[in-house]
Amino acid sequence: MCGIIGVVQKRGDVAPFIHQALKRLEYRGYDSVGVTTIHNQKLYMKKDKGKVDEVHRRLNLDDMPGSIGIGHTRWATHGIPSMLNSHPHFDCNSEIAVVHNGVIDNFLELKTELSRKGHVFKSETDTEIIPHMLEDYIKNGLNLVDAVKKTAQRIEGTYAIVVMSTKEKDNKIVCTRDGNPLVIGKKKDVTYVSSDIPAFLPMTNDMILLLDGELACLSSEGVKIEKLFDNTEIERESIKISWTADQAQKSGYPHFMLKEIHEQPEAIRNTLRLREEIIEEAARMIHDSKRVFMLAMGTSGHAAMTGRHMFASIAGILPSFELASDFPDTVYGSLTEEDCIIAITQSGETTDTISAVKYAKEKRAKIIAITNVVGSSITRLADHTIITQAGPEIGVAATKTFMVQLTSLALIALALAKRSGFTNSESLMKKRDFLDKIPDIISDVISRNEERARKLAGELYEQPSLLFLGRGVSISTVEEAALKLKEISYNHAEAYSAGESKHGPIALVHDGFPVFFVVPNDETRNRMIGNIMEMKARGAHVISVISKDDKELVELSNFVFTIPEQIEPEFSTMAFIVPLQLFSYYMALRKGYDPDMPRNLAKSVTVL
Ligand code: AGP
Repeated sequence: MCGIIGVVQKRGDVAPFIHQALKRLEYRGYDSVGVTTIHNQKLYMKKDKGKVDEVHRRLNLDDMPGSIGIGHTRWATHGIPSMLNSHPHFDCNSEIAVVHNGVIDNFLELKTELSRKGHVFKSETDTEIIPHMLEDYIKNGLNLVDAVKKTAQRIEGTYAIVVMSTKEKDNKIVCTRDGNPLVIGKKKDVTYVSSDIPAFLPMTNDMILLLDGELACLSSEGVKIEKLFDNTEIERESIKISWTADQAQKSGYPHFMLKEIHEQPEAIRNTLRLREEIIEEAARMIHDSKRVFMLAMGTSGHAAMTGRHMFASIAGILPSFELASDFPDTVYGSLTEEDCIIAITQSGETTDTISAVKYAKEKRAKIIAITNVVGSSITRLADHTIITQAGPEIGVAATKTFMVQLTSLALIALALAKRSGFTNSESLMKKRDFLDKIPDIISDVISRNEERARKLAGELYEQPSLLFLGRGVSISTVEEAALKLKEISYNHAEAYSAGESKHGPIALVHDGFPVFFVVPNDETRNRMIGNIMEMKARGAHVISVISKDDKELVELSNFVFTIPEQIEPEFSTMAFIVPLQLFSYYMALRKGYDPDMPRNLAKSVTVL
């Protein structure tokens, strides 16, 4: 995915704002950066390969005239990260500038057609066909809005496009979307458009959603939205966003990831305040369905795995967990209107998850979405949506959004149990009370383990490979721990069920080989001790995440992270993952990597 920003204001230069907005959007891609402004009917452009700070140091992105401009941070798909492949892209006469997020599937065919007409291309991108198509339509007498409409009719794929032209007399930005997000922000004498809210959050909390198949024309006075293909004008009220600008700043922390780990207690508290009827409706839909499928990718998939365990153990309902990317292939055409899908995606934009949900909708299955982003694509597909309350998450590695996904799944499990009667009301009350205590427990987990995580990273940072083992609900904990480590410290890590470890992975173990064990004090504990003994017998260096008073495990381990309280078994992932999040953060630092911007990744993956 890429980050897009466009600004049009009555007076003053927009470039310094665009520069800062791009920094706030950088989590969406950091292969290259570009800014274009218009001043006195002339385009000014600065773009290059690299992160925002690097490019700014070379080019000074603030020093560009013009009260209208667009900017872009790129996650490369078509063409290597380079100056020429950086957005914005232009027509032959450098009069039309375009930024784009998405993939145009039929670009080769359109490029050939345009080349035959004499258009000259400078980049390998799919995007560059857009300004050239606009150039053709405008040459044939269309204005910018109509040219964008015509272009949108011909391109196939997914897109969020923001364009401007020196030929338009009044300063205006035109944008449209299909499959990739665009939100509009408004304050007096300034209008913004962006891929995501944090870009303009320091300026305004008033946001208007642009939906697929709509086009918006922005001026400093405001915005006019219309249907892309039939000119119908759309009246849409703005929404007040509760996120604060401070939530999208590092606020004294060296990295967003560390800040977001520390914000987890607050994020859980806010999610526990979700209105009861929202949770109840999800529980009703699940309860009334024949089969339940949880669909998600990456960290959200690990939340689904934990949620599956919560539903089974608390409510007696065992959903299937399927990777959204594989879903149509794994359900073998058996989906019906009696089934219910729980789609979990913090961004609400992950293409694999959106595609699976679209497939499920075609089959008339009921859709519940759990997402952190108001107005995201998944919210428009779902029959019922739960908006988790993590606030904006900027670090590419999901931490606090994972925690709030678990919180909302726990709330649904409790509501579901009331309907199914699987757990008696006294135990349910005990579990609910425990959820209220979790934020304080996690604060304690952070303070007692952060320094230890840094120390352990100092000891293990040269290890080429690490193994993570758990049982039961802790399998999702170790899967998540291994993913975090791979993502940001580029360390090879494998997660396994401790039961399965004997059937192959144990061959990896030799003297000093680090094996992590997640051992809550639940019914898996004694079997986990058996697995620790097996690994120790082969020379493993044992690192365990354990309950505070588990002296036996302290004895058996070379290093321990401790969890201060006895955790309700179904919720153990929420506490036991935290030291491992911290460990992967400090591993990335110790190895000299930026944990907020891991190589090859972007915050949400909007390609199939
Ligand atoms: C998590 O740290 C990763 N960045 C990634 O696995 C992520 O969880 C996955 O891409 C799904 O994203 P989503 O929650 O926005 O759908």
